[in-house]
Amino acid sequence: MKPNIEILPDSFLLANHAAQLICAQAISEKNLFTLALSGGSTPKRLHELLADPNGSYREKLPWDRMHFFWSDERPVGPDHPESNYRMANEAMLSRVAIPPGNIHRIPGEKPSTEEAADVYQTELRSFFGLVNDQPPRLDLVLLGMGEDGHTASIFPGSEVLQEKRKLIAAPWVEKLHTHRITMTLPVLNNAAAVLFLVSGEDKAAMVNEVINGEPGRFPAQRIYPSNGSLTWLLDEAAGSKLP
Ligand code: 6PG
Repeated sequence: MKPNIEILPDSFLLANHAAQLICAQAISEKNLFTLALSGGSTPKRLHELLADPNGSYREKLPWDRMHFFWSDERPVGPDHPESNYRMANEAMLSRVAIPPGNIHRIPGEKPSTEEAADVYQTELRSFFGLVNDQPPRLDLVLLGMGEDGHTASIFPGSEVLQEKRKLIAAPWVEKLHTHRITMTLPVLNNAAAVLFLVSGEDKAAMVNEVINGEPGRFPAQRIYPSNGSLTWLLDEAAGSKLP
């Protein structure tokens, strides 16, 4: 599958273009629009743009029909500075009129990450009416990428890369000395659309490796929706090593 690759001049225009794409897809969706947010710092400006009262998107977006999930979370509570939910809530969700039932956060505060993963898997199964190991089909999954080629909380060498049945896993991440809670590849690759948002020169070498390098070496290379679109949105710095 050849991904769509779009390069924007800078990180602001990158966030703005992502907002345009999300807004267009949300409006075109006549029923519920289900999207998974990514963690990390890159999406913050996108979130702010979508909720900006003086911006181009807030009034257009069908917030009452939008259901928010997370592709991964840290083992912390919703008020913790490292919480992916907290970032999205402060930058966007707390600033718009969205029914609380439309927000499906990962309960990172659970005593064990295994328990948090099980609880979230049950929530996905009930919300999407899934049977057995059937993965949900999210309308849109937003992902970031680390300099090491990780995405969501699927890191190089992680046992999650082999996971075929679980929808949500709680892998140990050696380099971070912690567990994480993450959607698995069957879920991410069952999405109707996946949108990578990557910014900064520090990611340029890995962006080129992932897109043009030997396949299957890095977790981000394992993202290719079986029946959906794959788009890489980059700023010029992140795309600077692409041929
Ligand atoms: C997380 C993310 C992770 C993130 C990348 C990029 O919880 O950390 O989901 O996969 O997207 O690490 O992070 P930055 O956007 O901060 O560079």
